[in-house]
Amino acid sequence: MNIARHLIPGPVKQRYLDIKKRLDRLELTVRGLETALDAMLVNPKYVPGDDIGFNGQRHRKKIFGDIIANLPVEAIVETGTWIGNTTAYMAQTSEKPVCSCELNARFHAIAKLRLAGIERVQLELNDSRSFLQKLTTGGLVEKCVFFYLDAHWYDDLPLAKEVDLIAAHWKRFIVMIDDFKVSDDPGYEFDDYGNGKTLALPLINEAIAAHQLAAFFPAAAARDETGARRGCVVLASRGELAGKLSQLTSLRPAK
Ligand SMILES: C[S@@+](CC[C@H](N)C(=O)[O-])C[C@H]1O[C@@H](n2cnc3c(N)ncnc32)[C@H](O)[C@@H]1O
Repeated sequence: MNIARHLIPGPVKQRYLDIKKRLDRLELTVRGLETALDAMLVNPKYVPGDDIGFNGQRHRKKIFGDIIANLPVEAIVETGTWIGNTTAYMAQTSEKPVCSCELNARFHAIAKLRLAGIERVQLELNDSRSFLQKLTTGGLVEKCVFFYLDAHWYDDLPLAKEVDLIAAHWKRFIVMIDDFKVSDDPGYEFDDYGNGKTLALPLINEAIAAHQLAAFFPAAAARDETGARRGCVVLASRGELAGKLSQLTSLRPAK
């Protein structure tokens, strides 16, 4: 028996776990900065590749391809551009217009340089909530939109508000959330910001119930996925779009 474990008071243990989580997040951010720098040194322009876009995940790319091929998507919106890898991947493989927002001015500037010349891409330096709010006042609300929600890295987590804004203003939409916990497959990585801010179903259950959303997980097991093996969830309003998602072999109902 580990006696020391029982001697550490609960609050101290919790503080240790919180600090560890913050260090993990910091490490991830530093890795993101290093990768951005490497990308600029090696490939200052976007070059497609198996390991580029959707975290280099083969099955995730298949889910995206299936959605584009089988659902009436007219436009794509991404939150969290970073250096534009998934932005460019989505624009080139779907041939749909893609607009993406980024909070960090340095990443936004890098993405603009890397993606200059790629058609149908619009990049904006903005917080995801203001960006989505702005889109609700234009013609895009009438369109069937695929939203890729990937604006998370910091303690301020915009996800719940993003889902709320989308579901409250769009009639036809599909939402894919990256870095999401696949409840029954621990092999998939996910983000956890502490204090109940885990990217998992409980965080969006209220929005799912309020807006009558259907939720799907990847059908492929994490062990068969490639790249960073980040989990995801795909949402759509019940009815036509959810019905079409349920027909895709790359997805399964989320439990
Ligand atoms: C995981 S990265 C995005 C990766 C990118 N979507 C891709 O697939 O290559 C997260 C990005 O979201 C940005 N971000 C974080 N919070 C944000 C917010 N509130 N609004 C917009 N961007 C945000 C971060 O600066 C970071 O560049």
